[in-house]
Amino acid sequence: MSPFLPGELAVDNVRTLAPYVPGKPIEELERELGITNIIKLASNENPFGPSPQAIEAMQRALADSWLYPDGSGHLLKQKLASKLGVVPNQITLGNGSNDALVLLAEAFLKPGVEAVYSQYAFAVYPIAIQATGAKGVMVPALPPDSQMPLGHDLPAMARAINERTRVVFIANPNNPTGTWVDAAPLEAFIAAVPRHVMVALDEAYFEYTGGLALQNGIEWLARFPNLVVFRTFSKAYGLAGVRVGFAVSHASVADMLNRVRQAFNVSCVALAGAAAALDDPAHVAAAVRVAVAERTRVSALLKQAGTRVIPSAGNFLLLHAGANARERFEQLLRKGIIVRPVTNYQLPEHLRVTLGTVEQNDRFLRAWL
Ligand SMILES: Cc1ncc(COP(=O)(O)O)c(C=O)c1O
Repeated sequence: MSPFLPGELAVDNVRTLAPYVPGKPIEELERELGITNIIKLASNENPFGPSPQAIEAMQRALADSWLYPDGSGHLLKQKLASKLGVVPNQITLGNGSNDALVLLAEAFLKPGVEAVYSQYAFAVYPIAIQATGAKGVMVPALPPDSQMPLGHDLPAMARAINERTRVVFIANPNNPTGTWVDAAPLEAFIAAVPRHVMVALDEAYFEYTGGLALQNGIEWLARFPNLVVFRTFSKAYGLAGVRVGFAVSHASVADMLNRVRQAFNVSCVALAGAAAALDDPAHVAAAVRVAVAERTRVSALLKQAGTRVIPSAGNFLLLHAGANARERFEQLLRKGIIVRPVTNYQLPEHLRVTLGTVEQNDRFLRAWL
């Protein structure tokens, strides 16, 4: 008789979910290979970390950690609102922007409705959609030989929207591809989306735009009431470990997201760290400058050596590693360099590499070329 697995009693749409596959932690590789001096270029983290002011604020916040945090996130929302040119009740704070994306799915999706996303789009979208019982509609990405290989095909995504659609997810730029959609076609796309569909515009890597033609989606909120823009402190602000991100939307949408949000979803440490990080824009700008310059330098060197590199507007590059991508990943591991396989995205011949410090990138290049 097969053993009783109570987990099997979970609802169908959860039992059939493929779980998110995270990057390999440094400690795990240390344990497995008994080596040190490992670099992790696997989760698009910012190697320069948070501002020293944010670290100090988080240390101070620890003394108050016996108290529940401010569930309204008053101070952080005030600061964000004035920086972004919105009002605080347009902002929903999340335990990372992942949390805010899930809140949108919970508030707007249910069995019988649909949500549209692109092939190779960030893996959290199909998970968040399926967990609600809604149907995820994946639209084939642009072909590898197009100008924006593996990127979102906006006209095809527009065609996939119907009367059952409630949300369309756009990652700009997208992870794991790094690809983006230019401001003009994105604006035309959003303008044509029917009013019964929310546009979830995920700008987790917004700060790394560099000189590329990406739009600041927040500037469009006044014109498009069905738009929701997602940002995070995990990348350019270097706060991935404390978990804080947010959505900016029409106030009536934020009201709905706040109804499904756990009252204390952002910790006191995260609230303090994020608020203090906003006071040190020079720290963020310095990290972004390195990542943008390294994006150009590292991709040029890889291309010179014959590696196909997908265009990127993020702090990472997607490389075509070929049929032996898994072997190359393991070779890198043995040299203490953790990059990210993307087999879970049905891209078994690619690897994603986060841009680290110049020294870390040089170490990766020496191991790769
Ligand atoms: C496109 C995109 N959106 C959202 C996130 C979620 O980040 P976080 O929950 O740390 O804000 C990530 C993280 O890798 C991402 O790549």
